[in-house]
Amino acid sequence: MPRETWATRAGFILAAVGSAVGLGNIWRFPFITGQEGGGAFLVTYLLFVALIGFPAILVEFVIGRYTNLNPVGAIRELGSGAWNYLGWLFVVTGFVILSYYSVVAGWFLRYTLIGVTDGYALAGPEEAGALFGTVSTGLDSLLFHAVFMALVIGIIAAGVRKGIEIGVKVMVPAIIALLLGLAAYAFTLDASTAAYSYYLSPDFGYLAANWASILPAAAGQAFFTLSLGMGVMITYASYLGEDRNLAADAGVIVTLDTLIAVIVGFVVFPFLFAAGIEPGSGGASAIFVSLTSAFAGIPGGRILGVVFFAMVGIAALSSAISILEVLVSYLIDELGVARVPASVALGVAVFLLGVPVTIDLIFLDLYDKLADGVLLVLGSLLLALFVGWVIPEIAREELERGIGALGGLGDAWIWIVRIPIVIVVLISLYLGIVDYVDFLTGDLAEWLAAR
Ligand code: TRP
Repeated sequence: MPRETWATRAGFILAAVGSAVGLGNIWRFPFITGQEGGGAFLVTYLLFVALIGFPAILVEFVIGRYTNLNPVGAIRELGSGAWNYLGWLFVVTGFVILSYYSVVAGWFLRYTLIGVTDGYALAGPEEAGALFGTVSTGLDSLLFHAVFMALVIGIIAAGVRKGIEIGVKVMVPAIIALLLGLAAYAFTLDASTAAYSYYLSPDFGYLAANWASILPAAAGQAFFTLSLGMGVMITYASYLGEDRNLAADAGVIVTLDTLIAVIVGFVVFPFLFAAGIEPGSGGASAIFVSLTSAFAGIPGGRILGVVFFAMVGIAALSSAISILEVLVSYLIDELGVARVPASVALGVAVFLLGVPVTIDLIFLDLYDKLADGVLLVLGSLLLALFVGWVIPEIAREELERGIGALGGLGDAWIWIVRIPIVIVVLISLYLGIVDYVDFLTGDLAEWLAAR
């Protein structure tokens, strides 16, 4: 069977944007920014996206388009020996990420429904926090995790191409419009001045004192939000038949994705400040608590809320399918399993892995810190080493296909991938591992001791 390619010229870029824009921008970005000191994190993150994220997305694109294979097969074709195991790292990473991603996406579905049945008029931040508590753990959480995974499985089993392109075309502009509206409303709050200064004026003293936690957090967030480090962008580029300008496409994807995250900050922080909530304290609840108070205060907020939460749910869906697609394309290409059974078997396995997260949020940290601080960073590091040192000539020529001769720019890209990226990512990885060990021996050990 010939491998499918994208239906329309815009199909690839839409799918890649659909993968990138999701909970990473809307849920993860604001709470990590809050935990890591606001402006100090924001500048580090923006630097990371521009200097590391952009070249790294090209790394995945060239591998995918050159081989037209799933990530595991692609690395096997181009490399040899120990490189073959890299594909396995991707599969493990995909499992871990999707398992908790689905749980969090389920919360957005649940909040959509809450708007339909009850509205968001809550007495204050305590009540909003209590509502988050009931949504995020227990039967509610389990049920909506199951619903979300069923949707992901359904779409992947049917073959990705059909739905995504239209979905993203409508969804991404709509999300941007709604976010801008919410940011404008947030601007009218008295607390907005304090919030902007927290978010926008980096405290360099804080940065200098906390770089060991800010750096790995920024690296992990950059890779997570751009769907890098586990072969998603390899997979999507592998369906490319024609010679697109990959650098231009990467530019569009990175810009849109970053723009959305930055606007979310303009919504979340004013509402947190207005509610008197310390921005680093809410963790996973930050976006939910700030948005429920936003929607409670706006005329027509209930309808807006339903629309917004539903759209984030759909944005999460287009990201989640990109992860399951990597796992499924592996089973199809490598083991010859048919699409439907492959989708169902892997989807159910991912669902089961996510169940602990619905029971206690300590598992969210256990999974998220591992995937984000360690696995994605390791995956991106190895991909950079692979492209920079094993296949630099192939990579360079592949990048030039669709652009034309790049001359010194092509050399610059290879050298950025070879040395600065490798060094910075290596440091981030080391710090991420230290952080994770801290978590295992600290918070997790305490949690276990309290059982
Ligand atoms: N980038 C998506 C988001 O921000 C999540 C995602 C999709 C992802 N595919 C991925 C993260 C692959 C890491 C790796 O919501």
